Amino acid sequence: MIWSGLIEHWFKRRSRAMWTVVITVGLLGGVGLTGAFAEVSQPLFPSARGEQCVEPVDVMRRDHFEFLKHQRDKTVHKGIRTPRHSLVGCIDCHADKDTQGRFVPVNAKGQFCQSCHAYAAVKIDCFSCHAARPTERVSQSP
Ligand code: HEC
Ligand code: HEC
Ligand code: HEC
Repeated sequence: MIWSGLIEHWFKRRSRAMWTVVITVGLLGGVGLTGAFAEVSQPLFPSARGEQCVEPVDVMRRDHFEFLKHQRDKTVHKGIRTPRHSLVGCIDCHADKDTQGRFVPVNAKGQFCQSCHAYAAVKIDCFSCHAARPTERVSQSP
């Protein structure tokens, strides 16, 4: 076999120092790859305001849309308005501010709802009707 012959030849010619280099480069490459992979595989979003979410975080990660849909049905069909799972509340706590102190829409690139949904390939149309940032009071003073 030409391949085994070549490999054997290569093995014989490598010194221990050479192996150290090969292994080190391999390890560093691996670490670099893991870093790059972690960057694309985890949604990054600004942290929220407020002490805590409306439900425990692990529950929110899994079920937030169930709460929202339930809340919507309660409000739209039954006229019951409760603040707990209100979409307005989500926006109030989860909208970030830009360097000028203005609110950024939660569905803008890299923002809370958008970044996670982009990662999970989820599309929502909620913000064609609902405000994607807290209502801002515009200051009249100069
Ligand atoms: C076609 C416009 C429209 C779209 C699209 C829409 N909504 Fe609504 N939604 C409304 C209207 C109108 C109300 C009732 C008025 C109100 O309470 O603001 C409402 C009420 C709600 C409420 C109850 C009020 C509150 O904030 O607690 C929730 C929750 C809600 N919608 C969530 C959603 C979610 C989540 C989506 C996306 C999956 C969505 N809506 C998409 C129009 C829309
Ligand atoms: C009183 C402020 C507040 C409100 C209202 C609120 N949240 Fe949160 N939320 C938080 C905090 C604080 C965390 C913890 C993580 C952080 O600091 O970003 C969190 C975490 C989350 C997470 C998990 C994020 C992660 O790290 O994986 C999701 C999803 C979430 N919220 C969705 C919602 C939705 C949807 C609503 C509206 C139904 C909502 N939140 C309302 C403050 C709030
Ligand atoms: C921690 C990641 C994460 C964050 C942050 C997040 N979502 Fe989601 N969201 C998901 C995932 C994953 C799904 C799809 C779950 C499924 O289909 O099983 C989803 C689904 C939804 C759905 C249902 C979509 C459908 O077609 O049924 C709505 C509505 C929704 N999210 C609203 C929001 C809103 C509003 C915010 C910001 C306040 C938000 N989400 C923040 C991960 C997130």
